[in-house]
Amino acid sequence: MSEKELRVSKIRDGTVIDHLAAGQALNVLAILGIDGSGGEGVSIGMNIPSDRLARKDIVKVEGRELSQSEVDVLSVISPEATINIIRDYEVVDKKRVERPEEVTGVVSCPNRNCITNADEPVASRFEVLSDGLRCGYCGDIVREGEVAENLDVS
Ligand code: CTP
Ligand code: ZN
Repeated sequence: MSEKELRVSKIRDGTVIDHLAAGQALNVLAILGIDGSGGEGVSIGMNIPSDRLARKDIVKVEGRELSQSEVDVLSVISPEATINIIRDYEVVDKKRVERPEEVTGVVSCPNRNCITNADEPVASRFEVLSDGLRCGYCGDIVREGEVAENLDVS
C-alpha cells in the first residue's frame, strides 16, 4: 500500500483488528471495553475501501492484546476479521477470527431473570448460532445486531 493510501498510521506495539465489517468499529471498541478512559492509543478507520470486502472498518489498539473471549465475540459481529499482533512495528502474528461453538463472558444475557444476572457466581455462556447467540442457561437469543447493546461492561 502506498503512502498516499495509508489512512491510519502504523503502530509500534499492540493489536490491529482488520477487515471488520463496515460499521462495526464502534461496536468493537465497546466489546473491548475501550472508551478512551484507559489512556491507550486507539485509531479507527471506517468505510475504508478494501480488496477483500467492498468497504471495511479497522481498529488499532496500542499496547494491548485481546483475550480469547473478546476475539470470540468479535467473530460474531465480524466473521471476516483479522487480528494482527504488532511488536516493534512488525506484524508478528496474524490470524482470522474463528466462529466458536460458544462464547463465555463479555456478553450478558438480556433476560433479567436469567441466573447469570442474579447475584450468583455464574458466568454467561452462549451457544453461537448462524445469526446470533443463545443463552446456555435460559435460552434467550441475542441477535447479531444486538450484541453491542448486551455487553458485560463490568
Ligand atoms: N499495521 C499497523 N502497524 C504496523 C504494522 C501493520 O497498523 N506496525 C496494520 C496494516 O496497516 C494493516 C494490518 O496491520 O492494516 C496488517 O498488516 P500487513 O499484514 O502488513 O498488511 P496486509 O498484508 O495488507 O494484511 P492482509 O493480508 O491481512 O490484508
Ligand atoms: Zn440467560
